[in-house]
Parts: sequence; C-alpha cells; structure tokens
Amino acid sequence: MSTSLPRHVGIIMDGNGRWAQVRGLPRIEGHRVGAESVRDITRASRQLGLEALTLYAFSSQNWARPAEEVKALMELLRDYLVDERAEIMDNQIRLHAIGDIERLPAFVKDPLDALCRDSAHHRGMTLTLALSYGGRESLARAARALAARVQAGELPLDGIDVDTLGGALPTGILPSLDLLIRTSGEQRISNFLLWESAYAELMFVDVMWPDFRRTDLFKCLEQYAARERRFGLTSAQLADPESDVEPTAG
Ligand code: FPP
Repeated sequence: MSTSLPRHVGIIMDGNGRWAQVRGLPRIEGHRVGAESVRDITRASRQLGLEALTLYAFSSQNWARPAEEVKALMELLRDYLVDERAEIMDNQIRLHAIGDIERLPAFVKDPLDALCRDSAHHRGMTLTLALSYGGRESLARAARALAARVQAGELPLDGIDVDTLGGALPTGILPSLDLLIRTSGEQRISNFLLWESAYAELMFVDVMWPDFRRTDLFKCLEQYAARERRFGLTSAQLADPESDVEPTAG
C-alpha cells in the first residue's frame, strides 16, 4: 500500500452530537469520545508514515453553538494539548494550527502556541488542527496579505497567481491535500480546505466520528489506493506520459 499512500489526509470529524443523542447522552459526551478517535487516528497515521494529517476540530461557525458546548469543546482541546504533549514530542510530530487562533481562550491558545513552537523542528508528521477555521476566511486573509504586499510595492499585481495565493495560505507549508474524509454520512465540505481540496479525493464515510478508529482509516486508504487520480489528464496520458492526447478538464 505504501506506493499509493496519500501524503496528506484531511478529516471532517462529523457526527459527535448524533452519536451521543442516539445513546441518550449529552452531545458533549460525543465530543469526549470523539477526542479518543483523534488520539487513535493520529497514532495510526504516524505509524503508517503519513506526512500530514489535518483535522477540522472547530469551525469559524462553531462559535455560534450553545455557550456550554463551546466551553466543553475548548476544555477538551486543552486536555488534549496537555495530555498529548509527550506523545507529540516523543514521536517527532510537528503540531501546526490553522484558523483564527487569536480568538481562542488563553487556556487553549497558550498550550497550543507552546506545543507548536516546541515541535516546530520535528520532521515525522505534521498534525494540523483547524481551529476557529473557515476555508473562505482563510482565503480572504491570504488575499489581504498579498494585496498588502502589492500596495507596499513588494509584489507586482500579476505576481498574484496560483502559487503565491496557495503559498500565502496557512496550509502552504504542507504537501497538497490528497484525501479528504468526512464521517457521519453527510456529503458536504462545510468550509473546510476549500482551495486545498481542488484535486483531493473525496470520501464520505457512514460512520460517526466517535466510532471512527484506525480500521476505518485503513479501509479509506485501501479505497484511495484503488482510485485513479488524473489531475485533469486522460487515463491514456497517465498510462503513457509521452502520448500527445490533449488534456481535458475533470
Ligand atoms: C462535529 O460533530 C464535530 C465538532 C464540531 C467538534 C470536533 C471535536 C472533537 C472531535 C473533539 C476535540 C478535538 C480534538 C482535536 C481533541 P457535530 O457535533 O457537528 O455532530 P452532529 O452533526 O452529529 O451534531
């Protein structure tokens, strides 16, 4: 499987609330068990040799949830950062965060900043937590940053292209997204990695996130390995790169 292992996997961890509700439990219990899935999937990804794993842990829109749920999610994040610190440091994992991090409470932001800083030199796997994150917001921020460089005379207007815009995104340090998984059976992107998912394989899995463990990830990776990625080319071109068939969209 190693030759067709994705370099970068992104996951929309959906279904925590429904998992809890069908069990007559508070939604927060779904998030708590979901945090166990985060631990298992991160460990398995590192063991498999993925270069990058990006998890959608809290969206820009999630701030509008009931205050009690937001507070519980923030506490789970803090507990995760404190409890997993040794695991991340011992396994050469580089922690990276994308999103409006300034909006996080200090009890999350401080351990997050510390762990991102202390693991910045690690080369094992980059674990990116998307926190207070929205794909549109991220693109708007990157556009503003490039516009400011144009205004300052540092960048010509036609210097804004696919490479500079992609590089201005906080995911610019990561390999291209190869595989995007969403759990819970919902089939939406929900403002996650909009730019980055341009050529990603999409996988919608009918398992709630608290139940999603490494065996489910392995199944996704097997399916990924069986797919043909064409990047706008034809199957014939992929089979014979010397062929002169015109590329088509798709
Ligand atoms: C979506 O499920 C999930 C979230 C909004 C939060 C995800 C958080 C965790 C998995 C736990 C903490 C994270 C880390 C990194 C330790 P939902 O609540 O929208 O589910 P529903 O659609 O069934 O209501």
